[in-house]
Amino acid sequence: MKTAGARARSNMALVKYWGKRDDALVLPHTGSLSMTLDSLWTETRVTFTGEPGDDTLLLDGAPARTGETARARALLDLVRAGRQELGAARVESHNSFPTAGGLASSASGFAALAAAACWAAGDEPDARALSILARRASGSACRSVLGGFVEWTRGERADGEDSFALQHLAPGAWDVAMAIAVVDTGRKEKSSRDAMKDSVQTSPFFDAWVTTTTQALAQAKAALAARDLERLGAIAENSFLRMHATAMANDVPALFWKPPTLALLEQVRALRHDGTGAWSTIDAGPHVAVLTAGADVERVRRALADVPGVREVLVARPGPGVERM
Ligand code: PMV
Repeated sequence: MKTAGARARSNMALVKYWGKRDDALVLPHTGSLSMTLDSLWTETRVTFTGEPGDDTLLLDGAPARTGETARARALLDLVRAGRQELGAARVESHNSFPTAGGLASSASGFAALAAAACWAAGDEPDARALSILARRASGSACRSVLGGFVEWTRGERADGEDSFALQHLAPGAWDVAMAIAVVDTGRKEKSSRDAMKDSVQTSPFFDAWVTTTTQALAQAKAALAARDLERLGAIAENSFLRMHATAMANDVPALFWKPPTLALLEQVRALRHDGTGAWSTIDAGPHVAVLTAGADVERVRRALADVPGVREVLVARPGPGVERM
């Protein structure tokens, strides 16, 4: 038996990834940029039993659904490749945050699984190789391999070896934070995977999304280097609005917002109007994450918690990359 554990944090994109140019290798049409979130983590232990059989996956103590197990097995197969003697894997995973609500548990989950599986198999991949492996399971997971502010490079190669995670700022390098308002803990209606595929194939705005995101990424990296929160926040708001506009324009529209989502966006505008620097971003779900200065996050948290329909507000600061447990 060979076993290892890993902890990885979730991340929140400020310049969004939306659309693959290669579905099998998970290669994006554009680069993206995210903040790794210290308080939202997944801890995963992988044990290779050395015996033939089916892989088993427990999420917070309960057997995972078929789809989740299949995605985990595909990643484990990449690690096992040519080494069948490792045998079936037992995977146990715990999250520090609600998983069913459309928060990015796939990012932390697959980054932790990739690392724990490699380490259990006796491999020591560097961050670049580990991010490429995590990317194959879930695009956004590639960014969770590193801490602080992280770019996922688009790359040019057909084999994906130049599409990986790159750190721009270490976790302690900038005192900013996010307050994440959770508005609905029900299951998502449509997965980001399906909706973004529909966007690539049917959204009339997809080409414009690619062009503007390529520009936004360059501008966001400059804002990050200058520690210009106002500039970065404005770029982040544009990015998520353009991503959602692209998805809403799919032939089968993908609309992720719920009524509290819009109320939260208004609350963030009100905060800005009253002089608090705060900028929204939304993934493929109804929750609103708000970027702000570290000193302002408690005020932002309280303002978001006041919005009707908000279940809880999580607070996160830039966190570390994947760690051995
Ligand atoms: O990694 P996936 O397939 O779950 O896609 C995530 C896409 C967004 O969360 C909506 C944006 C992003 O860049 O994380």
